[in-house]
Amino acid sequence: MSIVYLNGQFVPQAEARVSVMDRGFLFADGAYELVPVYSRRPFRLAEHLRRLQHTLDALRIPNPRTDAEWTDLIHDLVARNAPDDQSIYLQVTRGADVRRDHAFPQVVQPTVFMLSSPLVTPGAEVRARGIAARTASDIRWLRCDLKTLALLANCLLKQEGLDAGCAETILLRDGFLSEGTASNIFVVRQGRLLTPPKSHLMLAGITYDVVLELAARHGMPHEVREIAERELRTADELWMTSSTREVLAITSLDGQPVGDGRPGPMAAQMYDWYQTFKNEVMRRGH
Ligand code: PDD
Repeated sequence: MSIVYLNGQFVPQAEARVSVMDRGFLFADGAYELVPVYSRRPFRLAEHLRRLQHTLDALRIPNPRTDAEWTDLIHDLVARNAPDDQSIYLQVTRGADVRRDHAFPQVVQPTVFMLSSPLVTPGAEVRARGIAARTASDIRWLRCDLKTLALLANCLLKQEGLDAGCAETILLRDGFLSEGTASNIFVVRQGRLLTPPKSHLMLAGITYDVVLELAARHGMPHEVREIAERELRTADELWMTSSTREVLAITSLDGQPVGDGRPGPMAAQMYDWYQTFKNEVMRRGH
């Protein structure tokens, strides 16, 4: 069984307990991060911790650990769990109050929870086929740049897609692409990689940044700009990116083939660069 971290202690997952008065439980009042770990080394940890700080600041929750403490805790949790590749989920809630009240409690201790799961990235077969996606209108709130626990809209939108045989749901707001329910989206048109700019309408993905860095480093033509629904629907290639899916081709959208219905050459190229970069970083140790 996996070992989790809860408020200063490492315990088996089934033994971890939090109060029913925890504001994470009552109000989804908290922040989270998901850090991929390869060969027992966290990938882009500083960037994940920076994004955690951004979310906590917006929620007005004091960060209960310094970056050095988070780093030590994550390494400790990784060491206590078996897989070499892990996904570390970490969550901070505002804590448990004595009554249920929307107003913030005066004095409260944030609840800190970390969970390790095996990191399972898409296998060769899925990558060779690509995945099916569908579109839906983005019904989420207007602070999608924050990685908060309030994921009900994401869950509903994702499940509607899964029920229709689609591994991801791509969200459109006012006729423009925002992102996927748990991923960022890249579009290839006429040899050019396009993706929407960071804003309050999407999560600034750590993988999104790596992909743009790699495009710049290798001279792949790319542009960060708003993408209209029509451009999404007539793309040559579509990709989703996230810490767990890495770079994955979307080969059908709303039942129509994307391009020729097979993963495109630019997706394959970016996937290779991503793997090489990961290995480089892991060898360097940061
Ligand atoms: N989700 N957009 C949303 C809404 C996400 O939930 C995620 C990641 C991303 C990609 O971000 P990154 O590249 O930093 O993983 C974009 C994680 C994997 C999750 O919620 O489990």
